[in-house]
Amino acid sequence: MELKKISKAFDILAKAYDLISYTMSLGITIYWRKKLIDESINKITPNTKYIIDLCSGTGDIAIGIIKKSQNTNINIIAFDASFGMLKILKQKSKNINNIFPILGDISQMPFKNKSFQISTMSFGARSLFEGEKDFKEYLKEIYRTSSNLINLETSHPKNPIIRILYYSYLYLIIIILGSIFFPHYNKEYYKTIMNFPNQEKLTNILKEIGYKHVVAKSLLWGTAAIHIAHE
Ligand SMILES: C[S@@+](CC[C@H](N)C(=O)[O-])C[C@H]1O[C@@H](n2cnc3c(N)ncnc32)[C@H](O)[C@@H]1O
Repeated sequence: MELKKISKAFDILAKAYDLISYTMSLGITIYWRKKLIDESINKITPNTKYIIDLCSGTGDIAIGIIKKSQNTNINIIAFDASFGMLKILKQKSKNINNIFPILGDISQMPFKNKSFQISTMSFGARSLFEGEKDFKEYLKEIYRTSSNLINLETSHPKNPIIRILYYSYLYLIIIILGSIFFPHYNKEYYKTIMNFPNQEKLTNILKEIGYKHVVAKSLLWGTAAIHIAHE
């Protein structure tokens, strides 16, 4: 899907995004984001100064890292293509002065090579996936700006019974309920989840890009995974 269409869809969704995301996942995505935040905190050292949160949206990851980290010198760039989502982030982080929202496209980021010690991304990678070739171009740009990526994304359970249950749940929640609450984007949203590579495939893609060490941590029977990739 074209970036203009994606950012417009998220602009429309922005005010209701958190509520939709938390309730439709029965709160599970809150727990998964906490896991990503904890993994990021583990990577922070006293020398860590700059982190970029990609597809930052309404900012739960950036805000969570700042709140939990002992390192008070950290600055987080919250990077996203949707002005509406970043506006909500700005409201949610009004008492935090080291989160900097930047509007832009991940395919062309205005940062020097290896500007960031850590990059994080949650539920953003699947928006970047429209076939492996284009996805790799996005990942190359992410790798150019930081050698450490911690990525949370939906995945595909291996167990066939769980897979059928999970896909049925997604269909019910996104296609049926989503047609009431966000009809302008529900079908595309569903497609991004279904088309995204499974965790083994994503591990291989990250290695092909240049990350030498990639560890995938499976969440809830493989319905999602956190990939920790570094040089
Ligand atoms: C599903 S939301 C995820 C938001 C947040 N990280 C979370 O955990 O809920 C995906 C976000 O990715 C952003 N996005 C999609 N494609 C992008 C791109 N090419 N460059 C920058 N942001 C993009 C959208 O604007 C949207 O805010």
